[in-house]
Amino acid sequence: MNDTLQKDELRELYREVILDHARKPRNFGRLDDATHTAEGINPLCGDKLRLYLIVDAEQTVVSVGFEGSGCAISMASASLLTETVTRLSVEDADACFRTVTQRLTQANDGASATQETDLSRLRALDGVREYPSRVKCATLAWHALHAALKQSDSKATTE
Ligand code: FES
Repeated sequence: MNDTLQKDELRELYREVILDHARKPRNFGRLDDATHTAEGINPLCGDKLRLYLIVDAEQTVVSVGFEGSGCAISMASASLLTETVTRLSVEDADACFRTVTQRLTQANDGASATQETDLSRLRALDGVREYPSRVKCATLAWHALHAALKQSDSKATTE
């Protein structure tokens, strides 16, 4: 298989992953017993989402949920986030925020701050780098994650 074909196939696969998560967001909904929560706002479009986390006494993220509305990329990214950080330590979850925002804003894959964490499902977001105006859509939920982990209830913007 030549490189171009492989890249096209990967791009199509990632597009399908984004569409699947946007149409059927995983872990969509409020967590009434959340220990941490934050709202993420993209001032460019006004879209918002709220992220809910349940962190246990061992500082492990045991459950993640979100609600809100936004474009397909923001919803898919939030959905992928919930699957990625569930069962991670607070430290590793916050490292995911750094890694994802670096990956989306740098030309290369960015330094992985979470060598132990499987971020392979997030490869679907890499194509967003080709559309700089959509990077804020993809990072919205991750900014909310970072804010939620820092405080028990806060607001985050992509600016
Ligand atoms: Fe608003 Fe994407 S257009 S978050």
